[in-house]
Amino acid sequence: MTISIIGSGKVGASIALNCGLRELDPKIYLVDIIEGLPQGEAMDINHQLSVQGLDSYLIGTNDFGVIRNSDIIILVAGVGRKPGMTRMDLLKTNASIVKDVSSKISQYNTQSNLIVVTNPLDPMTYLALKTTKYPKNKVMGMGGMLDLSRFASFIHDYTKISRESISAMVISEHGEKMLPLIRFSSISGIPLTNFINETQSKEIYEKTKQVAAEVIKLKGATVYAPGNAVSIMAEAIVKDKKRLIPLSAYLDGEYGVKDVCIGVPAVVGRNGIEKIIELPLNDFERKEFEQGVKNVSEAISILPS
Ligand code: LAC
Repeated sequence: MTISIIGSGKVGASIALNCGLRELDPKIYLVDIIEGLPQGEAMDINHQLSVQGLDSYLIGTNDFGVIRNSDIIILVAGVGRKPGMTRMDLLKTNASIVKDVSSKISQYNTQSNLIVVTNPLDPMTYLALKTTKYPKNKVMGMGGMLDLSRFASFIHDYTKISRESISAMVISEHGEKMLPLIRFSSISGIPLTNFINETQSKEIYEKTKQVAAEVIKLKGATVYAPGNAVSIMAEAIVKDKKRLIPLSAYLDGEYGVKDVCIGVPAVVGRNGIEKIIELPLNDFERKEFEQGVKNVSEAISILPS
């Protein structure tokens, strides 16, 4: 398989490094329009991988045509939010970038697996799906995998139990209405509610939703956690792992929802989204989920046609 990453800014480079550290592919292309940036990032990452004995080889290029034979294309192009902004504030700016890049993707490659990273994630995943005209199982947005990494981090902070034992789940919008699912998270299979009380649940719930904005305020961007989250999704495809990962997927009746991309648990393998898992949500979870669907649907309704 071959992986192409479109966008060589901090997150694109982090994705490239994490894919290299997982030794996902003999060749990983890092693509950008900025002369020198992808080439420099690729060289720097290769120097690290070489001494670690990892044989993924990063190729930095300004030639978009390298994506033509890619089995996985990762779309990171776009602007990141500034401190105080929501992801949805990026809608107008990034919609034109995602539409342009997605249309170019479909000219070069009609059968890749497309992982979308650009924010606002769910509307951009929808726009990329509609613009590339890819099958719905071949386009997935990286959101829930990143959100659950934060949720799990807070669970560790509160319980002091090894991160290795923690299994967390987050669905819905990768945004203001994300939904950390306490009921579907556990520690070594033991429901999380055995370890944290109602008050702590509420605290962790809110922290998970707000922490990205806090990181951006402190250091200007989130980089390592997004890069790792994308590489987990790419690895599930490359190794045909059938890994269950929350991600933004096109719903066509699942959860009683149609014609929207939003975060749901999915089984990921060589063919992309191989199965969407419908969880038995309770009234509170269902209401929160529907709020996320509403947010994303409203954003989709104002996307450029
Ligand atoms: C974040 C960005 C990638 O949550 O949306 O860090």
